[in-house]
Amino acid sequence: MRRLNCIVFTLAKYYKMKAHIVVFLALVLSVSCTPKENIVTEPSEQERIFIDSTGNLIATSLKAALQKNLSSAIKTTGIVSAIEFCKQEALVLTDEVANDFNYQIELKRTSLKCRNPQNAPDEFEELALKYYEKMILEDPDFSASYIQKIRGDQSSYFYYYQALKTGSVCLVCHGGPENIDPSIASILVDKYPDDKATGYMEGDFRGLIRVKVTPEE
Ligand code: HEC
Repeated sequence: MRRLNCIVFTLAKYYKMKAHIVVFLALVLSVSCTPKENIVTEPSEQERIFIDSTGNLIATSLKAALQKNLSSAIKTTGIVSAIEFCKQEALVLTDEVANDFNYQIELKRTSLKCRNPQNAPDEFEELALKYYEKMILEDPDFSASYIQKIRGDQSSYFYYYQALKTGSVCLVCHGGPENIDPSIASILVDKYPDDKATGYMEGDFRGLIRVKVTPEE
């Protein structure tokens, strides 16, 4: 961009153009060359109903499967192997759940305090996390879904959210030192040196399930 403006000014100098024409030309160039940023907008009532039912179905089945499978993995194979399970199985489940739909669906779990930096929120997810944090502070039982319509340059997509609370089964890996066995703690430190996802108590807001729904073109 800077180079383009530079060319405009060099040409202007060469042709001895008037200053205001040069400024106008440079402005037009910078506006037309800057990529438009994605913005969050309100979905229509019809979109809201559709995304809410689709997102709810996917997020609920993911949540239920995670709870159930984590508990049985801990029981049968022990917590150490369940650490791996939490990561990989979640992704396999994601594919299974998503394949039943005709829209492009992408699932993610995110948090303001992530264990794996790869799960860190993007700018829209961060807005949603802060929204939930505020709502849950006002009402600890707040559990409504939340939808963002994100309008890009070419097309729009939706982010549907559901809150994840810390259950008792989660504490063995996300609780305080009194909950996390030292052998687990040392594996976690080793694998996730930047781990921020500990110190939770039962019932705490842990993060969000985010379902991205992109309507097929
Ligand atoms: C056996 C250990 C273990 C248990 C039990 C466990 N987690 Fe996790 N959790 C992990 C690990 C390891 C990761 C990082 C996964 C990765 O690398 O993507 C993780 C990641 C997450 C994330 C993604 C954000 C982040 O911090 O990276 C969320 C959200 C989460 N866990 C919520 C829960 C909830 C809710 C429960 C209880 C239902 C739970 N976890 C139980 C080990 C566990």
